[in-house]
Amino acid sequence: MAFNKVLTVTLFLAGLVMAAIPVAAQSNSPFCDSASGICFQGYTDPELDITIGLVLPDPPTDEFIVQMVAPASYGYTGLSVGGTMADSLLFTLWPNGNDIVLGPRWTSGYVLPEPYAGPQITLLPDSTVNSTYIKATFRCQNCTTWTDGSLGSGDQGAFQLIAYVAQTTTPPDDPADVGSTIIEHDDFDFFGMNLTQAQSTLYSSYIAGGVASTTSLPTTTSHPSSTSAPPTTTSSASGATQTEWGQCGGQGWSGPTACAAGLTCVAVSPPYYSQCQA
Ligand SMILES: *[C@@H]1O[C@H](CO)[C@@H](O)[C@H](O)[C@H]1NC(C)=O
Ligand SMILES: *[C@@H]1O[C@H](CO)[C@@H](O)[C@H](O)[C@H]1NC(C)=O
Ligand SMILES: *[C@@H]1O[C@H](CO)[C@@H](O)[C@H](O)[C@H]1NC(C)=O
Repeated sequence: MAFNKVLTVTLFLAGLVMAAIPVAAQSNSPFCDSASGICFQGYTDPELDITIGLVLPDPPTDEFIVQMVAPASYGYTGLSVGGTMADSLLFTLWPNGNDIVLGPRWTSGYVLPEPYAGPQITLLPDSTVNSTYIKATFRCQNCTTWTDGSLGSGDQGAFQLIAYVAQTTTPPDDPADVGSTIIEHDDFDFFGMNLTQAQSTLYSSYIAGGVASTTSLPTTTSHPSSTSAPPTTTSSASGATQTEWGQCGGQGWSGPTACAAGLTCVAVSPPYYSQCQA
């Protein structure tokens, strides 16, 4: 019975996605995360309250950084970087208490995606769970090609449909297990991503602060400064200076605007984000 439901819902999804490609109105726009200083190209779904961001190295390699933010109340949130359910690299994300449970999955058809070996995932330090949201920012290496597919169909300057799904009510059978059985999503949508625009020359600085992890990262029960200072900031008190790669300006920024000795505050994504660079 569950299988039939999965089949029906997802075949519908596949048909809808294909029919909608020419008129996909939603496309990427830039945003910067004030906690990490990472500037993404992505989309926030106002109804599902899901944000997806992507940033690629410039020039592209076999990796990228993804950000997924979703209501903590959702059973799980899923992402397809290939735009479809079948033959795409998928990710599932859900909270387990204050832990982030994140893993790659794949399926050849419209059935439950299984955990997928190959991608190397590193959660970056701004990843958090609090009472309202789960946020996973992760580096994914060996992630631009996968069984029967690739990002941009092999052209990382191309346009790529990015799909996301949510099971808004029902958690995985075993939230502690990244490979848990999940029931089918009850909502989904997608947006178009210009992969050229997602390339960033700052990529190497973005990954510098990563915390090694395969599938889950324990997060602190209190969630200090998740919206203010980046992890590399020594202090955001006025008069303090910012460390290398830390934010020093941009829309809404109220932290330090001076950089430590030897560093210059560079407007890397005006008007959103300025960063201290050597
Ligand atoms: C990269 O991922 C693929 C699966 O997409 C896997 O077959 C391959 O072994 C991985 N390569 C490395 C070096 O981990
Ligand atoms: C919870 O996390 C989200 C996403 O990181 C953040 O935007 C929000 O401000 C946080 N809320 C609290 C109360 O810390
Ligand atoms: C992607 O963006 C670049 C730079 O803004 C532009 O030159 C290119 O035409 C766009 N590609 C697509 C497929 O829309």
